[in-house]
Amino acid sequence: MLPLYQPTLTDSYGRQIKDLRISITDRCNFRCVYCMPETGVQWKDKSEILSYEELTYLAETFVSLGVTKLRVTGGEPLLRRGVINFIRTLNSIPGVEDLALTTNAYFLPEYAERLSKAGLKRISISIDSLMPKAFELLTKVNALGRVLEGIEAAQKYNLTPVKVNMVVMRHINDNEVVDFARFAREKGLIARYIEYMPLDGPGEWNRDMVVSGKEIFEKINAKYPLKPLIANHKSETAKRFTFADGAGGEIGIIAPVTEPFCGACSRIRLTADGQIRTCLFSLSEHNLRDFLRSGASREQLRQFISTTVLKKELGHRINEPDFVAPERTMSCIGG
Ligand code: 5AD
Ligand code: SF4
Repeated sequence: MLPLYQPTLTDSYGRQIKDLRISITDRCNFRCVYCMPETGVQWKDKSEILSYEELTYLAETFVSLGVTKLRVTGGEPLLRRGVINFIRTLNSIPGVEDLALTTNAYFLPEYAERLSKAGLKRISISIDSLMPKAFELLTKVNALGRVLEGIEAAQKYNLTPVKVNMVVMRHINDNEVVDFARFAREKGLIARYIEYMPLDGPGEWNRDMVVSGKEIFEKINAKYPLKPLIANHKSETAKRFTFADGAGGEIGIIAPVTEPFCGACSRIRLTADGQIRTCLFSLSEHNLRDFLRSGASREQLRQFISTTVLKKELGHRINEPDFVAPERTMSCIGG
């Protein structure tokens, strides 16, 4: 049993950390342009990656400090063997109120039912185009059909509401913004539009490729008038809307570049190789793995985590002239 004292994980700006994203693998079977270089990245050696026992021990430690929301990410988390059991284990940790997973959905047709039975509550699926050719250009894999089947499977097994994420990039998929909203309406999905951030593999991001949240809103609203939804949590990243005509589905617009929401951030990340990242854009990491492997006690780990959280950045600096992108791309950080 963990000691029961007032759990708090608060950073130096008074933000409470409630949300831990756990990457369980740096590997992926896709090569999304905004995430990985086409040639792939050097996978980490198995010895560098945290075992499920280690991940569980650390997750419990974070939860004992007040984290209530866990999200399992990758790379592609469904590529790692044992993921269903791991979800079951996380779900059984007292204090976990929300358990979600981010996936490219390639393996979802065969995994959705077992994930749901293991206690997964919600799922976010990356799908950046609804056209087979464009989908393949974006991900380098001809898999739109499987991903669509994966979305259906997630709905069938109640991993709902299913969120579908589209990273909007100028001249690449911005012509599909309205089609994506129609898709959400017809299927009863939460379509989330994400501004393109400088976390891409090839390092080709530039401001001209960002389609702003405002522009995205205007495009959708012109075709399907939208009605704002009041956010449940102030740390919510998405501006949410329903369709004014009462159709199903929901729209979320996430604008980290043009309308940063760092001030209310409650998130922290653990990479597959056991590094704490206090921000997506952190330029340094905190090696929890080696501290754990050196035999640190639970209490020492709690201290390490609390001290690390105090170093959480005020916000990203994408819009500053001296912005430097982190070395690790999204596939290694975990979305
Ligand atoms: N910009 C914005 N979002 C990104 N993601 C990955 N890379 C980027 C980027 N450069 C998001 C995608 C994906 C999730 C894992 O992370 O939405 O679904
Ligand atoms: Fe893989 Fe997700 Fe990165 Fe695409 S965005 S390459 S699916 S980890």
